[in-house]
Amino acid sequence: MKILVINGPNLNLLGNREINIYGKQTIEEILKTVASKYPTITLDYLQSNVEGELVNFLQDANERYDGIILNAAAYTHTSIAIADAIKAIQTPVVEVHLSNIFTREKERHTSLISANCIGSISGFGPASYELAIHYFNL
Ligand code: DQA
Repeated sequence: MKILVINGPNLNLLGNREINIYGKQTIEEILKTVASKYPTITLDYLQSNVEGELVNFLQDANERYDGIILNAAAYTHTSIAIADAIKAIQTPVVEVHLSNIFTREKERHTSLISANCIGSISGFGPASYELAIHYFNL
């Protein structure tokens, strides 16, 4: 089983960024914990702050992975291009967010990508990634 985790803008700053919302763990620490719990799964990781690069990551991953875990960060709320890319590929995508986007500012309550994803996981901190892996491992 091969899973690709894709993180969007500002998530390279995890561990330092708004730690009251996103926590103190870096993405490397989060994925190390997840990987140790799912040793049979090959976990790859990509991050970009650039919308078009996220589209390229999704297109390039198509049919090369069994699943994609996508935290599109702020592009969740704005990007028709990323929504279209998810729809255009065959590989299933699970949307994740560390924070509960529905308890935050109004502009975060809308996800343009949810309808094109298998499902959405929001608000469980680092465990959001683990729950998404768990889905693919079912
Ligand atoms: C986020 C939530 C988004 O609203 C925000 O722009 C992010 C991170 C999350 O993981 O909680 O950058 O996707």
